[in-house]
Amino acid sequence: MTRENNWIRITKAENFPLREGRPVSLGGVEIAIFNLGDRFAAIENKCPHQGGPLCDGIVAGTAVVCPLHGWRFDLDTGAATRASLPVCVTIFPTRVEDGIVQVNVNGGSRIEMEDAA
Ligand code: FES
Repeated sequence: MTRENNWIRITKAENFPLREGRPVSLGGVEIAIFNLGDRFAAIENKCPHQGGPLCDGIVAGTAVVCPLHGWRFDLDTGAATRASLPVCVTIFPTRVEDGIVQVNVNGGSRIEMEDAA
């Protein structure tokens, strides 16, 4: 991994299987990166329920289902769309340049849950 401004080069896009997540630790932040086919998404890799590894979840459309108890998170907003609490995870901007997936770890954002409704 190398850093260019706030963008961190992760690895070749081809190293991410389609519709699967992979974990990466960036500056002490655990992030799950998902290959959605036409783009990539990156979210905090810790489910707010009991810390499940979201990178191991099943990708359904533009959401991921936590492998531990099935809470579902929108990969575009980070909001839980199926959970027993109104929670969300941090999302991070991604881009692909020269075939390399990059994540802006300093660009992470978390929505206010009133916005998720
Ligand atoms: S730890 Fe994710 S749903 Fe329970």
